Amino acid sequence: MNGNIVIKNASDLVTCSGFRAKKGPEMADLYTIHDGCVVIEGGQISFVGKTSDLPDRPAPEKFDIIDADGKAVLPGFVDSHTHFVFGGYRADEFAWRLNGMSYMEIMVRGGGIVSTVSDTRKASREELMESGKKRLDSMLSFGVTTVEGKSGYGLDRDTEIRQLEAMGELDRTHPVDVVRTFLGAHAVPTEYKGKTEEFLDFVGDTVLPEVSERGLAEFCDIFCEKDVFSVKQSRRLLTRARELGLKLTLHADEIVQLGGAELAAELGAVSADHLLQASDQGIKDLAHEGVVATLLPLTAFSLKEPYARARAMIDNNCAVALATDLNPGSCFSESIPLLFALAALYMNLSVEEAVTALTINGAGALDKAKSIGSIDVGKKGDAVILEFPSYRFIPYHIGVNTVEKVIKGGNLVYDKTNGGKLSC
Ligand code: NIG
Ligand code: FE
Repeated sequence: MNGNIVIKNASDLVTCSGFRAKKGPEMADLYTIHDGCVVIEGGQISFVGKTSDLPDRPAPEKFDIIDADGKAVLPGFVDSHTHFVFGGYRADEFAWRLNGMSYMEIMVRGGGIVSTVSDTRKASREELMESGKKRLDSMLSFGVTTVEGKSGYGLDRDTEIRQLEAMGELDRTHPVDVVRTFLGAHAVPTEYKGKTEEFLDFVGDTVLPEVSERGLAEFCDIFCEKDVFSVKQSRRLLTRARELGLKLTLHADEIVQLGGAELAAELGAVSADHLLQASDQGIKDLAHEGVVATLLPLTAFSLKEPYARARAMIDNNCAVALATDLNPGSCFSESIPLLFALAALYMNLSVEEAVTALTINGAGALDKAKSIGSIDVGKKGDAVILEFPSYRFIPYHIGVNTVEKVIKGGNLVYDKTNGGKLSC
């Protein structure tokens, strides 16, 4: 595990080359190299090109060498929106939704997020880490090398911080990198029922400053939604977060068109997420301000809601990212293959656009496009090797994992040919 690896003879080396999120038509270009080769040294990419152009024959005692003949190689996937650390499950609610109850009806009746809050408050840090690790293992097997994780199932100081600490420990101990987001305003907890402003004062004056001081999160998020937090309330909390040095993202225009996209643009958020109901003006604003539009088709699928207007966004020159939204309620899925298939079949993204959305644009949604998200010299050595010769197999093999190997920081950390060996 020295971070030195050579991947050679790749049928298609999909580099997604670039150092910022790609907008509109740029998303269609994957900068693919046939018979490609990547050299990773000390965890960083040091050569990208044709195998025949490799300057020196790599010394086998120094490098692990992988022959990717007949296989496609891509950057590690970046899942830029998840809620993967939580206690308990909500399988009953899924059944209620099958019987016609809506996600918001369940929430208004005291189910939904607050039900996971009650289970998460009871969970120890070790329990959160144990289940979180299993979920990271599963994501890694789908080719995810960086994941964003949100708090938001505590809604009190101790549990919010416990969730963030558990994610920090997982980041240190698991090959998948974890980028942390504070979502202390995910819902109004029962003890603050009817006192939303007071709850936001508590989050903004008590928890947020501690999160910022202790460096427990890089981003601040809020569920800006009818019957949850209004645009005005979201603006107030996010402005405070920005003052405290956090970057911004928000759950925007998911169920009701509230103006969340416009707010994300106004505040210079890094990303605005969900956007199922984003207005025409909201889409234009996101493009104009360079806010990444992070779309979560697995959630729309799971809630039987209409998909976000990805085509309109790309045609209006937005940078679109795709993410899973893995969580115990609206979307209990970390399936990258199903995500790709839905994006291609129901949101009319080309396969190339979908690949961009899950690599360099996922990195852009986390403000990390300079260090991850593409196979470029100087970036982290994170890559995925497929069982098939082309990236086109990802959505085509519907809902089935096509990932054979995952390389993280120049080390082989998942290998399906070896019984799905994980290095962790
Ligand atoms: O992104 N919409 C708000 N938050 C999550 C769902 C969380 C839950 O249902 O537990 C989402 O869909
Ligand atoms: Fe979410």
